[in-house]
This record gives sequence, C-alpha cells and structure tokens, in this order.
Amino acid sequence: MRILLTGVNGQVGSALKPLLRSLGTVQAPPREELDLVDARAVAAWVRQYRPHLIVNAAAYTAVDRAEQEQAAAFALNAQLPELLGSLQREWGGAVIHYSTDYVFDGTHEGAYTEKDITAPLGVYGRSKRAGEEGLMSSGVPALIFRTSWVYGLHGRNFLRTMLRLGQERAEIQVVNDQWGAPTWAGSIAQGTMAVCATLCSSAQAENSLVDGLTGKEGIYHLTNGGATTWYDFTRRIFELRPECRALVLPIPSGDYPSPVRRPVNSRLDNTKLKEVFGVRLPLWSEALEDCLAELPDVQEVLTS
Ligand SMILES: NC(=O)c1ccc[n+]([C@@H]2O[C@H](COP(=O)([O-])OP(=O)(O)OC[C@H]3O[C@@H](n4cnc5c(N)ncnc54)[C@H](OP(=O)(O)O)[C@@H]3O)[C@@H](O)[C@H]2O)c1
Repeated sequence: MRILLTGVNGQVGSALKPLLRSLGTVQAPPREELDLVDARAVAAWVRQYRPHLIVNAAAYTAVDRAEQEQAAAFALNAQLPELLGSLQREWGGAVIHYSTDYVFDGTHEGAYTEKDITAPLGVYGRSKRAGEEGLMSSGVPALIFRTSWVYGLHGRNFLRTMLRLGQERAEIQVVNDQWGAPTWAGSIAQGTMAVCATLCSSAQAENSLVDGLTGKEGIYHLTNGGATTWYDFTRRIFELRPECRALVLPIPSGDYPSPVRRPVNSRLDNTKLKEVFGVRLPLWSEALEDCLAELPDVQEVLTS
C-alpha cells in the first residue's frame, strides 16, 4: 500500500511515521518539499504518487494567532482536506484526517458524541469544522478522528511548557475550570494504527483498507480516556517529574486572558470508536506516564 503522510514534523505526524511503515510504503514530504497550501503542487504530487491512503496530520494549530490569520487557517484546515478528498476520489484512494474538540463551544453537559451539534468559538475551530465538512462532502472514503489537548515530547505543547516552567519558576498559575482529556500524540498514532489494522484484516490486497472502510466512513472521537483540568494535569506531571518544583496554583479561565475563548467542557465520548472498531485508548494518566517514560532527562526541554 502506498501512503502519503502530511505534517510529518508535527506532534501526531512524527508519532505516526514509524508506525505507518508497517502498512506499506510511506512518503512523508516535509513543508520544504511540499507546501500544502499550494493546491497545484498538492494535486500534482497526489496524481503522480497515487497513494492508496492519505493520512493528513498537517494543520494550522495556532489557536490564538488564527484570529488574525483567518485565510492561512482556512487554507490548511478547511481547503486542504477538501482538496485531498477530491483528489483521492478521482482514483479510488482513502483519507484519514484529524480534527478537534474546538468544533464545540463547551456548553454541553457530559461528554460530546459525534452526533452533537458543533458551535466553534473561534477561527481555528471554524476552520477545522469546515475541513470536516469539506472532506465529507468530497465523497471520498474517509475517517475523521477528533482529538483533544494533544501533547508529546516533540513540538510546542502544554506538557513541554510545563516541564520547562516547572524547573524555571517558583510558582505557576494554571487554569482549573476547563475539562478535557489530555491526549498523547503517541496514543493517537497507536489508535490510528489499531483502526487501520481492523480495516486491513479482511484482505491482503493493496486496496483492502479502502474496501474495509466502506460503511464505516465518518467522524470518530479519539482521545485518551478519563478527564481532568489543566491544573490537575500539571500537578500529575510534576508528581511524575519531581525535578519540576514550582508550586502550582489553580486559577479560573478569566484570569488567563487570550484572544479566543476555549470550551469549558472539551470531553469527547469515545463509545463509537469502541463499538465500530473495538479500539479504546488508555486513560490520560497512563498515557502521560508512558510518554514521560520516553524522556530520560527532563532538563532536555530546557535546551531543545
Ligand atoms: N495540538 C492540539 O492540542 C490539538 C488538539 C486537538 C486536535 N488537534 C488536531 O490534531 C492534528 C495534529 O495536530 P498536531 O498537534 O500534531 O499539529 P502540529 O504539531 O502543529 O503539526 C502540524 C504540522 O503541519 C505542518 N504544516 C503546517 N502548515 C504547512 C504547510 N503549509 N505545508 C506543509 N506542512 C504544513 C507543520 O509543518 P512544520 O513542522 O513545517 O511547521 C507540522 O508538521 C491536527 O489536525 C490538529 O488540528 C490538535
């Protein structure tokens, strides 16, 4: 199977690359080789390589900056997924794409299911929702995995920021009134692979994944299990890494002003993923331990 992976240097893309190799030949051009906002270049690339599967882990993820850079956010998060869908539809390939809890406004009680109505609070969320709609309307066989609060040992993310601040500062204030599931990029990659394994299990042919997808297309919530707040997440990080000695103080979201409101409730119900594919990701607390086990020296985050 030929696979095109986008966003290979991002959190999810870098976790996916080594795992996807077990499914086939992976092409993963970085931004310097393929600028994904260049629609002509993308079309030429896909038509030449004809990937059976495109795994689109690329995104515009600067939530606050997106308020000023609407066109850039929509180019990558909305227009690209639709383009990839149309190109794959041309010749019979499939797409796996990622989306976000930010398609919701967070006012719902309990965990959101895939059937709940979306109501993004900002440009980033609107662009990601437009991407979901564009990809689905292209008519390509596609899976869209909505995830939340992604972290890992690579890239800019909450975990790395806290590991750094925990060593540099005496005290830090962390928001304690937003609920969600911190999700390790490694778990997202493993969950994606587990889904692919069920899709490929019925046949060995190159197009078996596409065939296996029939009837299962659509949106799935894919997060680590359980829920917490950013404050309790930070406390757990510091318990696991006692080198982080900063005192952690809880604050309400209102005390941490930002250009765009975040959903107060980001919890995503993963039942559909379990029912359709038999896949369930580990609890957020277990995934955090697994992730930190891959960081031998916590001082690394100060220098890298
Ligand atoms: N981060 C979160 O907290 C979060 C939460 C919920 C859902 N998600 C979703 O999860 C998915 C993966 O997110 P992530 O956190 O792994 O994102 P990320 O770390 O920000 O990585 C995004 C990747 O997209 C690439 N990219 C951006 N613009 C590009 C362009 N014009 N041409 C080529 N490549 C480009 C980046 O390339 P460079 O390396 O060159 O910059 C980077 O490799 C996304 O769909 C995101 O919306 C993320």
